[in-house]
Amino acid sequence: MKHRIAVIGGDGIGPEVTSEAVKVARAAGANLETQEFDLGAAHYERTGEVLDDATLTQLMGFDAILLGAIGPAIGSTAVPSGILERGLLLKLRFALDLYINQRPFLTLDPSVTTTHKPVDMIVIRENTEGAYVGEGGLLRKGTPFEVATQGSVNTRNGVERAIRYAFEIARSRERKLLTLVHKTNVLTFSGDLWYRTFVEVSSEYRDVTTSYNHVDAACIYLVEAPERYDVIVTDNLFGDILTDLAAAVSQGIGYAASANINPERTGPSLFEPVHGAAHDRVGTGEANPYAAIRSAAMMLDFLGETEVAKRIEDALGVLPPEGARTSEIGDFYGERVIR
Ligand code: IPM
Ligand code: MN
Repeated sequence: MKHRIAVIGGDGIGPEVTSEAVKVARAAGANLETQEFDLGAAHYERTGEVLDDATLTQLMGFDAILLGAIGPAIGSTAVPSGILERGLLLKLRFALDLYINQRPFLTLDPSVTTTHKPVDMIVIRENTEGAYVGEGGLLRKGTPFEVATQGSVNTRNGVERAIRYAFEIARSRERKLLTLVHKTNVLTFSGDLWYRTFVEVSSEYRDVTTSYNHVDAACIYLVEAPERYDVIVTDNLFGDILTDLAAAVSQGIGYAASANINPERTGPSLFEPVHGAAHDRVGTGEANPYAAIRSAAMMLDFLGETEVAKRIEDALGVLPPEGARTSEIGDFYGERVIR
């Protein structure tokens, strides 16, 4: 079956890694009709636009979106922090209701993990709520009396659908372990909602073994004993932080793939490597396309091309570990020279 894919290569190494991913997908047997969209820091600097409504509407007509990386070079001041993140990536996640951010970490070769133990876990990050909704404000800016609030919005529906999805994923895996990660001892309102919903939904999944960890403890476990985890479900911000940590302990951010999905398929889902634009690697042939290729495999699997996806996953699984632990971070992560 033919699939129409919107490719947003973006900035830095983004276009290189997405083009390798499309090549691999085709070589594995996928029938893709691709259309490139020029979006990101360079596009913004040229046009002053991040993602206009007409382009968003156009993107909604595709079967899936494959995104490389977005962000200006480290040290560049041309794009204020948050403009691209809110205006492009988060806008797509919210507008397309991509409420699941699925991030698998699979590194069976213990010689490349920081723990020298295999890592095989999936983090299900709620992707449309929490601290990412932009609730709050900055009062009396520039005065000695400034007050900044930044709320976290958690709805029963939003929390429950993420938790249900995580239970389904846990049920499909061999170990069938699901851990809720939160901070219920301090975030007593959102923690209560997450915890109660988790316990309630768990009654429908008796075959899944459940546990709970505070997020600070989860950081220790991820570093010292990642084998404790099979599937983790957590909120948007904890999920953002934990997945960078999980990437670092498994094989490095250069290997971390992700799927931003709407399980009800109300529109296209978006697949992207977790890493950034790594401008310093552009054209060097050193950009690691692994995460983009794995993201494309997740895309194909989601589109029903399970055999093609498996072929890619199998090939990635036998890649030699040399070149391991690459780190394509780039300014996507807000690294800035302050002084
Ligand atoms: C990620 C990124 C994004 C996030 C940024 C760029 C908005 O860090 O996909 O993990 O925080 O979700
Ligand atoms: Mn992140």
